[in-house]
Amino acid sequence: MTDEQLIAKARAAAMRAYAPYSNFSVGCAILSVDGEVVTGANMENACYRLGVCAEISALTAAQARFGLANIARIAVAGGDGSGSALTGAGTVTPCGGCRQSILEAAQLCGRDVEILCASGAGKNFDCHPISHLIPHGFGPANLFDAG
Ligand code: THU
Repeated sequence: MTDEQLIAKARAAAMRAYAPYSNFSVGCAILSVDGEVVTGANMENACYRLGVCAEISALTAAQARFGLANIARIAVAGGDGSGSALTGAGTVTPCGGCRQSILEAAQLCGRDVEILCASGAGKNFDCHPISHLIPHGFGPANLFDAG
């Protein structure tokens, strides 16, 4: 699967976002090492703090479908989902909390998983390894230090 195809899946997933409060639709597509793809979208709540990011939604789908240790690549896209397709020019990078969750999965994978960060319209994207998005991250190894 090409980067463009994975981004297209993230953009399509964003159209399923439930984001009535922010009006910012985010989609995430996760490719497995065997070529399977799962997706997720943000899901907000009237109790604002209970909102779930697209990346977490997709990570839980990945966990159920093929396991967190089998993630090959991740695409994220966000923007205006009020029309027939996602729009927007700015590239979206995962929030800090999502970076932490992706780092945990990447450590299970034993790989520096790359994240394609795309604009809503999908015209622009950057590719960042998780180690660049969350340098010096806290991970499982820190807990093992406690003995
Ligand atoms: N959002 C995500 O889904 N992923 C991110 O990495 C950044 C933010 C969502 C949360 C909220 O529903 C909306 O975007 C605005 O913050």
